[in-house]
Amino acid sequence: MNAVVVGNGAIGTALAASLLQRENLHRLVILQRSNETPFSDPRISIAKFDAEEPASIAAAASDVGERLGQVHLLINTVGMLHSDGQQPEKRLSRLVPANLQRSFAINATLLPALAQAFSKMLRHEAPALLASLSARVGSIEDNRLGGWYSYRASKAAHNMLLRTIAHEWRVSHPNAVVVALHPGTVQSRLSEPFISPGYRNKVHTPAECADHLMQVLGTLAAESSGGFFDWKGEGIPW
Ligand SMILES: NC(=O)c1ccc[n+]([C@@H]2O[C@H](COP(=O)([O-])OP(=O)(O)OC[C@H]3O[C@@H](n4cnc5c(N)ncnc54)[C@H](OP(=O)(O)O)[C@@H]3O)[C@@H](O)[C@H]2O)c1
Repeated sequence: MNAVVVGNGAIGTALAASLLQRENLHRLVILQRSNETPFSDPRISIAKFDAEEPASIAAAASDVGERLGQVHLLINTVGMLHSDGQQPEKRLSRLVPANLQRSFAINATLLPALAQAFSKMLRHEAPALLASLSARVGSIEDNRLGGWYSYRASKAAHNMLLRTIAHEWRVSHPNAVVVALHPGTVQSRLSEPFISPGYRNKVHTPAECADHLMQVLGTLAAESSGGFFDWKGEGIPW
């Protein structure tokens, strides 16, 4: 199996570590912004890209194509809830168009850019899986609290783009399954400011999260394509 993990944050790194445990893993490429990696396994290599620079996504994919040829599993773990100068909005008055656009570029637009760039590598006779990390707060039906405008809206857009790709690929990529996953609440740079000591939901370690997500990926069937699943494998309403 050749795999590509996009993003080297907490969950991306844990998924890469989990994949490296598999004897059937042939090659793994991590797409990331930096050159640093905690891994020294000879099966692993890095291709650099930035989600906000579309040309870099195509260049990284072409690099991966030369190294791997076929890709059997591509997992997009890139996401942004807060960054320098951007915090999730508690109120409409905090919404800044430039921040909304940035959230869309990283949380939504990256997915179809990856699907375009890796399309040929994921179209083959063997099973292929394109999984992309979303968030339950991107569910429109589940939005009972409001707030977090940019993150919610960009994840909802991510979900619509993913489902639309899944429909198109049913014909063009009959062996491919395309899914959105909610990883649960996981210790990471992204979640850290929002997990207070009294936080009422279970907080998973990145390694636990990787176990859950790999388990869910292992249960997917052709009819799962276009679905939105949580870390337990349960469907989430759009
Ligand atoms: N943690 C949770 O509780 C939780 C809950 C629900 C959903 N999620 C989703 O799970 C995914 C992974 O999150 P995480 O918890 O692992 O967070 P994380 O540790 O902060 O990782 C986020 C990753 O996104 C990358 N990234 C951000 N902007 C980028 C850009 N412009 N170009 C390339 N890479 C960029 C970061 O790269 P740098 O290291 O270079 O910044 C990092 O690798 C995200 O999609 C998130 O929305 C997480």
